Amino acid sequence: MTIVGFVAGYAVPALLCLAASACAYYFYCLLALRQLASRGVEETADFVLGSGSALVGALQLRRELLPFLRWAGPPPAAVAEIGRAKGGTLALLCRAAAPDALVISLDLPGGLHSGPVPFLNKGAWRLPLLRAMKGPAQDLRLLDGDSRSPASVELFGKALGGRKLDLLFIDGDHTFEGVRSDFELYSGFVRPGGVIAFHDIQPGYEKELGVAVSRFWKEYPLPGERAEFIADGSQLSYGIGALRLPG
Ligand SMILES: C[S@@+](CC[C@H](N)C(=O)[O-])C[C@H]1O[C@@H](n2cnc3c(N)ncnc32)[C@H](O)[C@@H]1O
Repeated sequence: MTIVGFVAGYAVPALLCLAASACAYYFYCLLALRQLASRGVEETADFVLGSGSALVGALQLRRELLPFLRWAGPPPAAVAEIGRAKGGTLALLCRAAAPDALVISLDLPGGLHSGPVPFLNKGAWRLPLLRAMKGPAQDLRLLDGDSRSPASVELFGKALGGRKLDLLFIDGDHTFEGVRSDFELYSGFVRPGGVIAFHDIQPGYEKELGVAVSRFWKEYPLPGERAEFIADGSQLSYGIGALRLPG
C-alpha cells in the first residue's frame, strides 16, 4: 500500500472518528452538567468522578469531599476555590452552595499541578462547560491569574464586591510558600466563623512533586477549629484539612 493510500484509507477516517468522538463527549458533558445544575451534590459527584471525569473531573476523593462539605455547614452564600484544573470541584461547590450563591474560581491555567495534559484545562472552548456548572440563579466568576499576584487579589476582591466568603477551598500550587501565600492573601476575604479548606494534606509527595500542604498544615499557626477528612490514613496524597475561623 502506498503512503497516500494508507493516509486516505486509514489515517484520515481514524482521525475523523476520533474528532467526532471528542465532539460527542464534549456535548455529552455539557448536557449532563446543565441537567445536574438543578440536582444535588451526590449526583454531581457521580458524574465528575465517573463518566465526566476525563473532561470535567475533580481531583478529589468522594469519601473526603462530601463529608467535608457536610461538616462545613449550611449551603454557603459565597464560596471560592483557588485551583480549578478541569473544574470538577467547582461543579461540586456550585451544587453545595445556596441557589443564589456567588461562586468564585481563581486559576492559573497550565500552572503547577494542572495535570499531564495542561491544555485540557485551558482555552475558551472550556468556558461553556464551566458556565454550565452553576445553578440558574448563581453568580459564577471565573478568574484567571496567579493567586500570588496583587492583580489577582484585586480581581478577587472586586468579584466579591465587599461580601465575605463562607467557604474558601485552597487547591492551587501546593508548595509551602504557595499555600502560605494563598492563606495570607485570601483568608481576610473569609467571614469570622467561615471555613478554609486545604487540599492534599497527606504527606506522600513533597520530595517528588513539591507538595508541601502537609507541612504547612502541621507547622503554620492557623487560628480556629481544625478537622481532617482523610479517606484512608495510608494514602500518599489527597486529604482535606479544614479550618473554621474563630468568631
Ligand atoms: C490540583 S489542581 C486543582 C484541582 C481541582 N481543585 C480539582 O479538585 O479538580 C491545581 C490547579 O491550580 C492551578 N494553579 C497552580 N498554581 C497556581 C497559582 N499560583 N495560582 C492559581 N492557580 C494555580 C493549576 O494550574 C491547577 O489548575
